[in-house]
Amino acid sequence: MKLYALSLFLHLTSVTVWVGGMFFAYLCLRPAASSLKPEQRLPLWEAALGRFLNWVGIAVVLILLSGLYMMMAMGPANTPWPIHAMAGLGIVMMLAFGHARFASYRRLRRAVQAQNWPDGARALDGVRRIVAFNLVLGFIVIALAAAIRG
Ligand code: HEM
Repeated sequence: MKLYALSLFLHLTSVTVWVGGMFFAYLCLRPAASSLKPEQRLPLWEAALGRFLNWVGIAVVLILLSGLYMMMAMGPANTPWPIHAMAGLGIVMMLAFGHARFASYRRLRRAVQAQNWPDGARALDGVRRIVAFNLVLGFIVIALAAAIRG
């Protein structure tokens, strides 16, 4: 497989893991878990998000490296504007992810360990807001990818 095709493969599978996981968390797990008591709901989210955010950490590195490689291979002057917009919004998504992982999720983990449910609920709401933001941006970036073809 040529290096460009391999990069596109890694780019697209990583995007699938990230955006698909956010869709599942927000639109499937969140409504299903909402009827649980805080002492059940918050440890469930802490365990599920801990695993998901680790996978997203790997996905973010792969998206960045593969995307930059493909941009370099195209040559910056030949790169269409939707790809520049993709890179810009992609970096905003990565910074938002970093905040969710290293600020909000850490607070959630500490609160669950201390069995402090009100603090845990506030921290989880912080993660929820970032996931909503990144899910919308993710769909916009995928629309930009489609715009390259049209
Ligand atoms: C730093 C961030 C990023 C950079 C530098 C980047 C760059 C690129 C480049 C150069 C291509 C190849 C286009 C082609 O060969 O036609 C591409 C494809 C693609 N990217 Fe990104 N990207 C980034 C982030 C993202 C993110 C966050 C998403 C989705 C949420 C995304 C979704 C896609 C999709 C769906 C394609 C396939 C387009 C196609 O080939 O038809 N990218 N990206």
